[in-house]
Amino acid sequence: HPHDRRAIRGSYITFRANPFDVPAHDALVYEEDGLIIMEHGRITHCGAYASLHGLLGDNTPLTHYPDSLISAGFIDAHVHYPQISAIASWGEQLLPWLEQYIFPTEAEFSNKDVARQTARFFLSELLRNGTTTAAVYCTVHPQSVDAFFEESARLGTRMIAGKVLMDRNCPPNLRDTAQSGYDQSKDLISRWHGKDRQLYAVTPRFAITSTPEQLELAGDLLRSTPGLYMQTHLAENLDEMAAVRSLFPNHASYLDVYAKAGLDGPRAIFGHGIHMTEHDFAHCHHSGCTLAHCPTSNLFLGSGSFRLFEALNPARPVHVALGTDVGAGTSLSLLATMGEAYKVSLMAGDARLSAIQALWLATAGAARALHLHEQIGRIAPGMEADLCVMDPAATPLMAQRTARCTSLSERLFALMVLGDDRAIRATWANGRPVYEKPLD
Ligand code: GUN
Ligand code: ZN
Repeated sequence: HPHDRRAIRGSYITFRANPFDVPAHDALVYEEDGLIIMEHGRITHCGAYASLHGLLGDNTPLTHYPDSLISAGFIDAHVHYPQISAIASWGEQLLPWLEQYIFPTEAEFSNKDVARQTARFFLSELLRNGTTTAAVYCTVHPQSVDAFFEESARLGTRMIAGKVLMDRNCPPNLRDTAQSGYDQSKDLISRWHGKDRQLYAVTPRFAITSTPEQLELAGDLLRSTPGLYMQTHLAENLDEMAAVRSLFPNHASYLDVYAKAGLDGPRAIFGHGIHMTEHDFAHCHHSGCTLAHCPTSNLFLGSGSFRLFEALNPARPVHVALGTDVGAGTSLSLLATMGEAYKVSLMAGDARLSAIQALWLATAGAARALHLHEQIGRIAPGMEADLCVMDPAATPLMAQRTARCTSLSERLFALMVLGDDRAIRATWANGRPVYEKPLD
């Protein structure tokens, strides 16, 4: 089509404000019979079908999704694509789990064919789960990054990814050096950062596997090009905390190790952040860092309970998004992750997470936390057209429960507690359909 103009009709839900700041009904936009018109990958119009359908003309293809609920595509703020094949590996906490299962799996990515096939599988799984943007760890091998971005560029998805930096405390075949890690990252940044929808993240694995020299050079990289991301792990596990204290005895806290190297700031995404002090949270607030809350991973590795409402304390709110953290996480579904985040909010003795707040963390709130709120995360004119179409009655049980729901928030809550990839009917990226659920 010359104008690449398409439209979809159905119920949709999006945000006009943050539901952690204002009551849900002020934060939420719900259009029961909505129309979303897209052109050149962006939303041009959205609103009630009755008032907009006159704009369609004769030759705009229209896809109707009756009995569905459409949202902005989900955003996964922390995930490891090479670990997808090692998901559900039994019996260890973080450090032995890395040694026993993860390092051997990541070593296979020296082979670009493995990287390409895994990237293809991983991205098709993301789309099958309604996820259209993710912050993704590759491996230490530069070709693992090329393979990932090549596939994402082909699909037209907006992805953040980077080469893992690690120059100590890991097997020799997974080790770079401070200098080679810098040079390889620099080269990848020049080829991929800002290329159509792709964005680069400087990716030191965590403080244990990088020398102070490597962390310093990671800080130099981060300052070398505007708009770069930084992603790493922070305060996930108590044995990890002890190891960091002994490797960096002159630092006030784990976060201080990263801050000294200039790795804190806007677009810095720290995975986990479970064992944090008030001082750490305040530092994150003042420097503009983002924490990725990874509930299924933290349960799977026995890492602890992230204190969401403490992180979001209105006196010094920290940006928070949700991460699946596959392979330690047990699902690529943001719906499933929202459901687990609800349970963890009860365990942490925090306030109770609402369904609408959880949806914010997986869409508009994540986009805000990643400084991508002018591109993605909401259904509004000018936004990039990344959408996920959900079916609240996707399974017999979901249909049974949903039939008794009397409000939108009740329906959304059942959807996140019971739903997963089965509840995703279709996914659109960059204004085009990229996944359609096969008919049963
Ligand atoms: N800390 C350092 N590397 C990893 C990893 O691959 N997964 C998790 N969950 N934590 C880490
Ligand atoms: Zn991780």
